[in-house]
Amino acid sequence: MVEAMSRRKTLNFPLILTVLTIHFVIVAGEYFKPFNVTYDNRALIIGGKRRMLISAGIHYPRATPEMWPTLIARSKEGGADVIETYTFWNGHEPTRGQYNFEGRYDIVKFAKLVGSHGLFLFIRIGPYACAEWNFGGFPIWLRDIPGIEFRTDNAPFKEEMERYVKKIVDLMISESLFSWQGGPIILLQIENEYGNVESSFGPKGKLYMKWAAEMAVGLGAGVPWVMCRQTDAPEYIIDTCNAYYCDGFTPNSEKKPKIWTENWNGWFADWGERLPYRPSEDIAFAIARFFQRGGSLQNYYMYFGGTNFGRTAGGPTQITSYDYDAPLDEYGLLRQPKWGHLKDLHAAIKLCEPALVAADSPQYIKLGPKQEAHVYRGTSNNIGQYMSLNEGICAAFIANIDEHESATVKFYGQEFTLPPWSVVFCQIAEIQLSTQLRWGHKLQSKQWAQILFQLGIILCFYKLSLKASSESFSQSWMTLKEPLGVWGDKNFTSKGILEHLNVTKDQSDYLWYLTRIYISDDDISFWEENDVSPTIDIDSMRDFVRIFVNGQLAGSVKGKWIKVVQPVKLVQGYNDILLLSETVGLQNYGAFLEKDGAGFKGQIKLTGCKSGDINLTTSLWTYQVGLRGEFLEVYDVNSTESAGWTEFPTGTTPSVFSWYKTKFDAPGGTDPVALDFSSMGKGQAWVNGHHVGRYWTLVAPNNGCGRTCDYRGAYHSDKCRTNCGEITQAWYHIPRSWLKTLNNVLVIFEETDKTPFDISISTRSTETICAQVSEKHYPPLHKWSHSEFDRKLSLMDKTPEMHLQCDEGHTISSIEFASYGSPNGSCQKFSQGKCHAANSLSVVSQACIGRTSCSIGISNGVFGDPCRHVVKSLAVQAKCSPPPDLSTSASS
Ligand SMILES: *[C@@H]1O[C@H](CO)[C@@H](O)[C@H](O)[C@H]1NC(C)=O
Ligand SMILES: *[C@@H]1O[C@H](CO)[C@@H](O)[C@H](O)[C@H]1NC(C)=O
Ligand SMILES: *[C@@H]1O[C@H](CO)[C@@H](O)[C@H](O)[C@H]1NC(C)=O
Ligand SMILES: *[C@@H]1O[C@H](CO)[C@@H](O)[C@H](O)[C@H]1NC(C)=O
Ligand SMILES: *[C@@H]1O[C@H](CO)[C@@H](O)[C@H](O)[C@H]1NC(C)=O
Repeated sequence: MVEAMSRRKTLNFPLILTVLTIHFVIVAGEYFKPFNVTYDNRALIIGGKRRMLISAGIHYPRATPEMWPTLIARSKEGGADVIETYTFWNGHEPTRGQYNFEGRYDIVKFAKLVGSHGLFLFIRIGPYACAEWNFGGFPIWLRDIPGIEFRTDNAPFKEEMERYVKKIVDLMISESLFSWQGGPIILLQIENEYGNVESSFGPKGKLYMKWAAEMAVGLGAGVPWVMCRQTDAPEYIIDTCNAYYCDGFTPNSEKKPKIWTENWNGWFADWGERLPYRPSEDIAFAIARFFQRGGSLQNYYMYFGGTNFGRTAGGPTQITSYDYDAPLDEYGLLRQPKWGHLKDLHAAIKLCEPALVAADSPQYIKLGPKQEAHVYRGTSNNIGQYMSLNEGICAAFIANIDEHESATVKFYGQEFTLPPWSVVFCQIAEIQLSTQLRWGHKLQSKQWAQILFQLGIILCFYKLSLKASSESFSQSWMTLKEPLGVWGDKNFTSKGILEHLNVTKDQSDYLWYLTRIYISDDDISFWEENDVSPTIDIDSMRDFVRIFVNGQLAGSVKGKWIKVVQPVKLVQGYNDILLLSETVGLQNYGAFLEKDGAGFKGQIKLTGCKSGDINLTTSLWTYQVGLRGEFLEVYDVNSTESAGWTEFPTGTTPSVFSWYKTKFDAPGGTDPVALDFSSMGKGQAWVNGHHVGRYWTLVAPNNGCGRTCDYRGAYHSDKCRTNCGEITQAWYHIPRSWLKTLNNVLVIFEETDKTPFDISISTRSTETICAQVSEKHYPPLHKWSHSEFDRKLSLMDKTPEMHLQCDEGHTISSIEFASYGSPNGSCQKFSQGKCHAANSLSVVSQACIGRTSCSIGISNGVFGDPCRHVVKSLAVQAKCSPPPDLSTSASS
């Protein structure tokens, strides 16, 4: 009895410890009892304790403030301790000296929400962010400061940078948001991946890096600073890793902990490209390896990617969605099975945390050519220091890094069969409080309290499917013509080709260039006789150009600093040559961003004339920035009525460069809303005056997707792709908070002759959910796995359970498949196996139908035993539906 009691106690203690830590966090101060953050070689030391931390990257302006609480709560539920974000200088200081901390840029509100959820905050101030964000986060006015050179030892740049970084730090101090003030901020970053470009700046690069480091720590923020990808970071700054894998990374000093600032758990996408994704198994493997090999803080880039609203997408030509294949999708919904699988992983790491922080370094055990174990165990000394416990605790990771073969290894007397590219965690809580049994004795397997987490196997699948409700969309449209070329008083004429950004100051994507050339009879007959066309040649161009001759579109080209050769048809006499240069997200990565510019470089000429080329480089060009509709703000809910809209009846032939407007009612319910622009060409959209973003219907290449993606082996951004032959982005997120119940105004600007009648609206929700969970069975222990891992850690003796959950506001409406026994297949392809309990469907239906979530015990006690001596599992596929009254209320 005594033996059993003490055993259970010991089994549970790691969990109790975790709970206590969180408790300490919630009760005190405004958000926390003020605490200090320092670090040693092993970890960040938070309030005197080393911590193993899971951090979730969420960029606040890529969501709405109304979405923030849910995103933070879902991150926490998924196992995050920390929320990480960049700051976005061009959002916070759109005009020099005029700051914006409102709406999606309300970083104080965001930080306070993180604190109120009991999470820590890691702010990467930059101010260079990269982030696939317009101009890497730099305000466009920065390039106009006389003598400025970005990110080098340049006085004007340093002055502006210091002013901004100080502004952010002072703001956070004034709002008491740092840990020592009882706030959530535990960590800051200065610069960003500067090591990648430092050598481009010669000796001035290093001077700048040192200046940035010194400047940052001099601001009195009182928490540690990091520099990522900065192997030469000074002693007082932690250099950190950004990559797909960071287990092999070591900081540049033995006094610094191993921190992974960007775990690239997905990748971004460009217009006209396939969508990258990264298998959860490989992400989990990478994270497990990181903690196995001494890592201490891992940040998901991104945990929630969100949306590049307005014109915030980076360049070249990045799409409006920043979904990133993140655990929370663009709409904030759980991406399954990724979210759940990683949640299980976090729980396993947390279970090991007491042992991981207790050891200064692991014991390394080579188990095979590509198999190894790392064992972390506390001695009474360091446990006493960090954990206030005096019991022996131990955690081990066993890895098989072989990409192809499983391996069976012997570890402390027990055999483990490891799938390729996998890690097993063992939490080893030593049983007796007495000194009889200590780590190092030959342990019998039954004396282990062991939790195994195997990464090659996923037993829980969810399928996200779309619920469309396009019939509720309005079919009544208004239109407004956008003039081609010069449209207003602000046009001007200048000799030569001006640089795009020098003229637009990025107030618009669009810059019109107009010139006029004279063509003689001789040229016309020369072309006719030789059956040739003249061409307009542009030496170098980005991101997109449309070439018009005498009001007709001759052609368009997309690219980054590529040569354009466009055949044109000219007439005798004067011809108007009109070039429309379009930016599609300013360059966000690289050295010398201020010099990169946009639009045209080099010369522009007309070739193939009888008397030789006509040099247009030095011609008189008339310039007009932007669209008339943009400057009249015809998308604004108030000015839109007076702009001169006319009816656009069905069947009207659309003309290029048109604005369209309609009113629509919001779909019923609370599910996220999206518009489908796949019937359109290229343009931008606004809802109730909010800038949704750019849309473009470029189609991804037909090849290079592959039916499945093998998670084994090193990942890279081209390895796993989907959406081949499809429009890169069809759906555009319209945040619920932008919508009213009735009469929402949608305004779009369309560059091509596509009609708006086929635009549709839909809500997004998880419609089909699946799960498969095995009954408990030991041995062999290492084959035991389940989806709700953490729930059972403290309940080793309890029956495993399956948890099914629909999105908020939805209930399980039907069970499409249920089998307790040996079901075959996977989600949407389940079938009954040889062993099947006849009551499976009725048991599951009874437990689940009509509920938002339900739990079912996986045991013979629940289903009866359909076949003895067989390890059984339960597979279920269910449908989630919104409440019946909401599914029909969408139209009016
Ligand atoms: C171009 O600008 C000039 C000078 O401001 C103005 O007189 C002219 O009307 C403008 N052109 C158009 C088409 O608005
Ligand atoms: C842009 O304008 C600046 C300041 O007037 C000038 O120094 C620079 O050369 C211009 N850039 C280009 C590419 O013309
Ligand atoms: C066109 O004019 C520019 C500017 O004067 C000059 O640099 C270039 O050489 C000329 N190109 C040709 C083909 O004559
Ligand atoms: C539009 O006008 C109404 C009434 O004048 C005003 O209350 C509202 O704030 C305006 N909205 C915007 C976006 O300017
Ligand atoms: C189901 O699995 C059994 C073995 O468990 C196998 O014999 C059978 O062919 C499978 N059925 C299907 C439809 O895959």
